[in-house]
Formats: sequence, C-alpha cells, structure tokens
Amino acid sequence: MLKQATDQAIREAAEIIKSGGLAAFPTETVYGLGANALAGTAVAKIFEAKDRPKFNPLISHLTSLEEAEKYGAFNDRARKIARAFWPGPLTLIVPRKENCEISELASAGLATIALRVPSHPVALKLIEYAGVPIVAPSANKAGTLSPTTPAYVAQSFGPDLFVLAAGGTQVGLESTVLDLTGEGPALLRHGAILKEDIEAVLECEVTIDTEAKDNKPKSPGQLLRHYAPSIPLRLKAVDVEQGEALLAFGSVKFMGVKGGGFAKDLPPHAYKNLSETGDLYEAAANLFSYLHALDNSKNKGIAVMDIPDQGLGIAINDRLKRAAA
Ligand code: TXA
Ligand code: MG
Repeated sequence: MLKQATDQAIREAAEIIKSGGLAAFPTETVYGLGANALAGTAVAKIFEAKDRPKFNPLISHLTSLEEAEKYGAFNDRARKIARAFWPGPLTLIVPRKENCEISELASAGLATIALRVPSHPVALKLIEYAGVPIVAPSANKAGTLSPTTPAYVAQSFGPDLFVLAAGGTQVGLESTVLDLTGEGPALLRHGAILKEDIEAVLECEVTIDTEAKDNKPKSPGQLLRHYAPSIPLRLKAVDVEQGEALLAFGSVKFMGVKGGGFAKDLPPHAYKNLSETGDLYEAAANLFSYLHALDNSKNKGIAVMDIPDQGLGIAINDRLKRAAA
C-alpha cells in the first residue's frame, strides 16, 4: 500500500521494520526495500520478496559515519571518503568489525560489509525512528528496472507491501560502490559519485572493477568472492561420517552416525541445526554463522541435510552447492 511519507507514516514504517517486517522507502538514488539489518529472519524476507535465487550481500543504511563505525572497521582513508560524500549516493565496502551485530546474511557470509548514509530526509528519519541500521536493496524484483517511483514499487510488490511515497527519486541510479578492503580503492559499481570525485579526495588512483560484482574474473583479488568453508561439504546427507560435523535442517531424531551413535549426541562443535522446525527464514538467517561455526579444525567435513528446493530454500541450496563444489 502506498502511503504519503508524512511523519506519522514514517513512524509506521519504522514500526514495521523494527518488528521484523519489510517496508519500502525513498532514498536519493532509488527506492529501497528495507528490513532490520540486525535481525537475520527479517533480512531473509528481502531475498524472498525480491525473488532473488541467490544470496547477494546487501547495503546497510545508517544515519551517520559515527553509527557506521559501530559495525564497520574504518581506517583514515575510509573516514576521509565518508566525510566527503556522506550523506550521499556512495556505498563503502569495509571489513566487518569483530563483534558486528549486523546479520551475517546481510554480508552473505563475507568478512566485509557495505555501508551507506543516504541523504534523503525520509530515509534518514526512517532509520532514526527505527533505531536500527536498515538493510535495503533496490526495491525491484530481481532482473527488472531500478525503482525510481513509488508507483513502480507498489506495482512490483503488490498491495501488501508498505511503501513510503515521496515522489520520483533525484539521482535515479543506484549508489556508487567503492571497495576499500583491497590494496587500493576499487570501484565496483558506477553511480553519481564519479571515480574522479573519489580520486580528488583520496589523492590516489581508483581502479575500476565493475565486472568483479558479477564474478566475471578481471583482476584477481578484487572479485566479489563468495564465502565458502575451508572443509568439504557433503549435501543431502542422510547420515554422518566419523569426524564429520552435521548441519541439520528439521528433526534429527532418527539420524545416525556411521560406526555407532546418533546425530543428536554430536558435540556442539560438530552440530548445528539451521531450523529444528524446518522454517526456511530461520534457516537462511542462520546459514552463514552456522557454516562459520562448523568450519573449525575439529571437523574433517560438514554433512548437510536435505533442504527443500522451494522459496528461500532455492537460495540456500544455491549457496550450499557452490560451497560444496
Ligand atoms: O543506491 C543504492 O545503493 C540502493 C539504495 C536503496 O540505497 N541500493 C542498492 O542495493 O542498489 P542493491 O542490493 O541493489 O545493490 C547492492 C550492491 C550490489 O552490487 C552488491 O554486490 C554490492 O552492493 N555489495 C554489497 N555488499 C558487498 C560486499 N560486502 N562486497 C562487495 N560488494 C557488495
Ligand atoms: Mg539492485
């Protein structure tokens, strides 16, 4: 449903986001589909709503550099560029802080995080009222046009989605994405903040790596790497080998360990259940942190139980298949 972005409506949208739901909102670039970045199950809903068959990392939106520094590790260069262009259409990729509270699903398991302080007053108010960072991809279905008007967003997602309407967006192009985690700064996506603008502030060269985003190898090391565990993954497992860990989904009541014993008695370093009740939102929210937890030197591999290939299960299986390859 379309709602004119009055103060009251912004508070309503903030309430929806705080309580784990989705709401669309305007930024100066395009409309975003927002969720509470701290709640994995809320972030999972975004992938389902967008019909994205893959878990791509998402941008977390904040109200200031100070807030951003709670989650990302900024060096002098990152601070300098943030001070020059925030609030504005620039997304910075920085390392996640050690105790970063933003859901690992928002980073798709990577050790880095995308952060942006938008300049649109409605976006800033919404983040402030929600009191949490808001993760938001562009509010379009996967593979369709950028959402520059509220009507387009409402049309794409149907009447159930709360859309804060504030006319057409000013920039109309997604934000520039700058990766600061490599040797030198690299531009991963072109936007209104130009390479030259960034070079002028940083007084150094910025490489262009816009193909890295799509994983088309160009300059190795700058690729958007997908997280994969360092030990082998075995999919659709119906039992557990000696020395293997189990990444379970649903009940493990009848699952055995080869050579004797039951999966339910595995030690904590070798057992995680994505969702005991078989809830795919919960499973998506837990996926990366549980893979990280089981990817330890005590386990020789990870057996993963079958996950239904429907809804969010498609994205979960996509990532598991790539991790297993
Ligand atoms: O203008 C925008 O950026 C809009 C508004 C809503 O803020 N958002 C947007 O989000 O365009 P999305 O999800 O459509 O695009 C996010 C981009 C993707 O190209 C993604 O690969 C990249 O940011 N990205 C996110 N996290 C990353 C990371 N950790 N490393 C590299 N790239 C990352
Ligand atoms: Mg997009």
